[in-house]
Parts: sequence; C-alpha cells; structure tokens
Amino acid sequence: MGEHVLEFPKDFFWGTATSSHQVEGGNTNNWSQWENIPGKIRNNDKSGNACGWWESMEVDLSLMKQMNHNTHRMSIEWSRIEPEEGKFNEAAIQRYKEMIRSLKDVGIEPMVTLHHFTNPIWLENKGAWTNEASIQYFKRYVTYVVEHLGDDVRLWCTINEPEVYAVEGHMLCYYPPGKFSLALYFSTTINLLSAHLAAYEVIKAKNYAAQVGIVKNYQLFDPLDENSFFDKLLAKFLDRYFNRIVIDPFVFGKFTFPLPYRKEEIARLKGKTDFFGLNYYTRWRVKATLGSPATMLANIFNITPGAQVSDITKDGNPYGEIYPEGIYRAIKIVSAINKPIYITETGLPDADDSRRPRFLLTHLRQVHKAIKEGFDVRGIYHWSLTDNFEWADGWALRFGLVAFDQNTGERKMRASGKLFCEIVKAGAITQDMVKQYAPDMLSSYFE
Ligand code: BGC
Repeated sequence: MGEHVLEFPKDFFWGTATSSHQVEGGNTNNWSQWENIPGKIRNNDKSGNACGWWESMEVDLSLMKQMNHNTHRMSIEWSRIEPEEGKFNEAAIQRYKEMIRSLKDVGIEPMVTLHHFTNPIWLENKGAWTNEASIQYFKRYVTYVVEHLGDDVRLWCTINEPEVYAVEGHMLCYYPPGKFSLALYFSTTINLLSAHLAAYEVIKAKNYAAQVGIVKNYQLFDPLDENSFFDKLLAKFLDRYFNRIVIDPFVFGKFTFPLPYRKEEIARLKGKTDFFGLNYYTRWRVKATLGSPATMLANIFNITPGAQVSDITKDGNPYGEIYPEGIYRAIKIVSAINKPIYITETGLPDADDSRRPRFLLTHLRQVHKAIKEGFDVRGIYHWSLTDNFEWADGWALRFGLVAFDQNTGERKMRASGKLFCEIVKAGAITQDMVKQYAPDMLSSYFE
C-alpha cells in the first residue's frame, strides 16, 4: 500500500447494479413492444437476448465474484411473475429464487428492486401508472414476490426512480407510453410514490427486519449563469418538480410547494423508507430563455463550459457532465431524510473506458469525504457490471466495468473493472492505484 490511503468502513457494501430488462433477455413487456416501434430506440436496437441472464446469470455471477463484490442490486421482472393479470408464474419466481440463492451462496448480498421501468403488457393496456388502480395491482404482485422470496432477501428497493419513469414517459417521451402531459407526469409520479408505500407496508408486515427503500435519481440543477435571476429560478423550479417531489413526502409528509395531490397518502409517506437509494450520474447547468416551448426546452440543459463529458446520447448531446462533487452534494441533500444511504447507482457511458477509472477515483473520493464527515453512506453499486441494454439508447451507450459484445456474448474486463476489483479488495483507495490509473491527479488526490 502507498503511504496515503482513503479507507472505507470495513462493512461497506461494494457491488454493481443491473435491472431485469436490461440484462435478462427474452422479456415480453411494455418495452419489448416499444422496441418494435421503428425510431423509438437508437439504431432500432432491440434488447433481444440482452446479457442472457434468464438462461445463465451464473456467467456474470462468476464475474461478480472475481471482482470481489459483497453485494449486487438486481430487479424482478413483473411481466415474468404475472404475465397475465392475476396469473402468477411459479417457474419464474423459482428462477429468481435460484438467482438470489446463488448470489448468497458466494457471499454476495442481494438487493432486489421490485419495479425498474418495465410493466406487463396487460398493465400497460390499462394505462399503467397513469391509472391509480395500478397501485393495487402492484401490491398484489409484491405480496406474491415477498411470500416467495421474503426469507432470502433482506434489502428491497420498491420503485426505481419514479421521477425518471414519469419524466421519460410523459415529458421527454423517450420511454413508453411516450405521451406528453405535465398532468400525467405529476399523477404518475404520485401513483408510484403510493405504490412505494403499499409495497413498504406489505414487506414490513411480512418481515419487520427487512430494509425497504425508495430509489431516486438525484439530478442536480445549477444555473448556467450564477448571476441570472431567471436561470436560478429555473434551477429551483426543476429541483422542486424533479427532486423535492420525491424527497419531501419522506421528510415532511407533504410537499413544500404547491401540488394538489392526495394529501393523506403523502402524509403517510413520512419516514416510510428504511434507507434512501441514491442514484447519481450528473448535473445540468440550466438556462432560461424566452420563446416557444420548443426553443425554451432546446436551451434548458447545458454543461459547464470546458467540463469533461461522457458519451453522446440519441439526441446528439452528451449523457452528462462529469461532476464528482455532485455525488457529495446529493448525499448531503438526501441525508435530510435521516436514514442510511446506499448509492444504488452511479456510473457513466464511456465506450473506450478513457474516463471511467478516473470517474471511480474522483467520485469515490467524494463519497469518502461524506462518510468522514459523518454521513451514513452504507455502500455503493456501480452502474453497471457489464454493458447492457440502455433503454432508448439501445446498445450504443456502454456503462460496464466489463465490456460486453451483445452479438457474441463475449465479456472483457475493462481497466476500470480491474481498478474496481482492486479498490474493493483493499476496501480503500491507495496511492499506487492513483499512480497507476490517474497519475496526473496524484499530487492533489489525497489533499
Ligand atoms: C436507470 C438505469 C439506466 C442508468 C443509465 C438510471 O437512471 O435506473 O436503468 O441504465 O440510469 O442511464
């Protein structure tokens, strides 16, 4: 070990995160329908066999083992468990049981997400999350899952990123159902929050010791021009309606801004998450302009001039600015909930892996700083283990610590993957690691 070192807590959770549709292959759900509509997915890619997990998740399990994981975040595909309304598939739940047990057998604690963007087709046909009835359907599905897997799973995530699901489905329209509507953005988000509450109560009733959390993508919005009143106002507005909308109910049991929705249920959400699942990727520098909604929208999201960025998305812009301080800021903000924090996702699309090793070093340094200051961060799940099906960007964006060729199934460890292995093994970041993976940072890294 070098003479300088950033040590993480001994019981820190180290792992990667995946989601069912992005890795399993062969799913029949609202996304498999969406992928069949020409133009919806970059290059008209399909998830297809994805990373083949349904048949052989065990291939990636051995990678996790090799990479020293002590945890992994995965998700359950509702459309497999309940392919037809009210009809549950015993074989599917058994396959999940097998996956979960095989993780545990090698000392990898499973963290299991119940909803990660995808819906069964029958639910989609009923309006999915725009329809309040979906909360009851979700509750029934969760009850079934928990009856079967409850003894094997200690860490549950209810809903992955309610606000991203709603914004992509109803504002940006890159995800199904792709229906633009501000009202539907709000009602969908609120329905998903209620679904969290329903799932929370079901799981806790079965096993009070289970830890059940919400997962939220904390998107920082900073004014592009720090002196501009309108840029600042816009940043605040976006923060409220994308971030506070999920956080406020857990902290205050109400919204801190006008939003006339189901007050009683929102009140019941106060404190009803055992941990906060924080997904952090990037920040936007926002700019307010006058003009048509299209012009305004086109100008809103910017990157700090000169900042390093990750790979380019479907819309021709970078996925985001690489902004390590953001993870520290996000931890600080969500600690208002007063619950342990897991970084349930963080990462970047970087096909040639030219930025990922440095991303790991710089972001983990910020996480370490937060822990040192007393913030209760319990673990980190890198997004993702291997490249996988990246929603509307198909196979074009590569998030893996391990490169994955979707045509041949070949997996190849990236330099960042090796670094991740080393960090996890040491439970620390050492001078030698910085020297090897980002030598130019060495003089300032441990300051
Ligand atoms: C989602 C993942 C996605 C990742 C990278 C997160 O918002 O939960 O499913 O692959 O971002 O874009």
